[in-house]
Amino acid sequence: MHLYHVDKPFALLIFGASGDLAKLKLFPALYSLAEQKRLPKEYYIIGYARTKIEKEIFQKEFADSIKHHFRKNLNEKILQELSSHVSYVSGQYNKLEDFKKLRSYLSKITQSERTARARTSETGGSATAKRSEPINKLLTTLAYFSVPPQVFQDIIENLGETKRHENEDLRLILEKPFGEDANSARELFHFVARYFKEENVYLLDHYLGKTAVQSLLHLRHSNRLINMMMKGPEVSNIQITAFEKIGVTSRAGYFDQVGTIKDMVQSHLMQILALITMSIPITENAESLHREKYSILSALKFIESKNNIVLGQYAGYTEEKDIPENSKTETFAAMRLFIDRESWYKTPIYIRTGKKLHEKHTYIVVELKKFAFQPKNEEPNRLIFELQPDEKINIRLVNKQGRTSHYREITTSDTLACSGDDCLPEHSMLLLDVIRKRRLNFLSFEEIIATWQIIDNILAFIQRAKLKPEKYKDSSPGPKAQDNLTAIDDFKWFDIH
Ligand code: BG6
Repeated sequence: MHLYHVDKPFALLIFGASGDLAKLKLFPALYSLAEQKRLPKEYYIIGYARTKIEKEIFQKEFADSIKHHFRKNLNEKILQELSSHVSYVSGQYNKLEDFKKLRSYLSKITQSERTARARTSETGGSATAKRSEPINKLLTTLAYFSVPPQVFQDIIENLGETKRHENEDLRLILEKPFGEDANSARELFHFVARYFKEENVYLLDHYLGKTAVQSLLHLRHSNRLINMMMKGPEVSNIQITAFEKIGVTSRAGYFDQVGTIKDMVQSHLMQILALITMSIPITENAESLHREKYSILSALKFIESKNNIVLGQYAGYTEEKDIPENSKTETFAAMRLFIDRESWYKTPIYIRTGKKLHEKHTYIVVELKKFAFQPKNEEPNRLIFELQPDEKINIRLVNKQGRTSHYREITTSDTLACSGDDCLPEHSMLLLDVIRKRRLNFLSFEEIIATWQIIDNILAFIQRAKLKPEKYKDSSPGPKAQDNLTAIDDFKWFDIH
């Protein structure tokens, strides 16, 4: 099998390199790329953060987080080689001078690498570089934002101000959250547009890097059977579940400011909802995909009623470190939505997600309508997409075998998991996409603003109606009131055991 291999040199600048996101996701992702031999000979990874530390200390932190992630399955030689590409610059995010320092540091290390290669070439090595070739002109530079959204604008401005020339190949990778409401997201995007073209900005939601999430599009694009089943008039309701076992972990301070609706629903679950309900794009390219997703997301509707939303907070949340004891932040949310489009008119969409629940499980259930003559107690057909931890598709049909009067459910099931030696974790896959300029698995500004608009409406309603979260037990399935949501339409959550 042909594995995509990066052959052009690149530099990756990681802003917020000492933070959690970089350590938990990005560094291991780089190791996976190195392990699969996807990286070129020449690349530079430069961590940037406010903490003043020596390069060697940062290299150790980098290596330690990878060791911790892969534990036994680690190849020391690969890790050493990878770490030799890593360096560090400390600086403020709002100081132009510090960015100039970063830029000249990058020029210096790329130039000295070039010179060393040229020397090898003069002494009979095979390197093709010439000493006089200005590598910085050719170098693709990726700027990864692993920082809180409050500092996005400083970094964008300083990167913009220190551009080497108008057409410099500098690509920004911004990871969610993009702003904190529709207005701040809009402001952020206008701000970015002052310095960078939209085609150089990659808006990353790691759910779109998950193989099973990508399968949703592939399955719909390539199977008329599945697509016919997922047409609005055929579907009685859609359920999206994303349960987590973990609590707020070390991100308590951030989480308490936002809550589950902004943290999980605004981007991850809205994206899943769009992939399931949008019209399939004729061509599998980024523009048509973004257009179709936007047309669903901008048509989402929340009917303002206490019956259409359930909030929960796990017992013990307010005793966690950095959480105020009177916090009313929701750690669980369930909601009933509609899509204001002819094809989906009247089909309820239920979404639920929460932390400290009994299982880690993300899945989508598409329930089909029954014939009017089918008995009430007969199960409907269901199309189930399990996204994690198992990755599989299930189709559940009903049959009567032989002359018995018993109906039996037939389940056909197959895996959606990636197999073989080209599988990559989410962030590795998405980094490769940025290097290849593939925008399919990234978001568009319009989609993000559309999802913020519906989230803003929901949150404003919660405030007005003074809704408070219901307590639920650690390791339980969450607040009981979630069952009332589906009961409005005479349905039940379909739990997969
Ligand atoms: C992140 C949220 O975006 O996604 C976290 O900020 C959440 O709170 C995480 O735990 C879930 O991601 P995954 O890939 O584990 O489902």
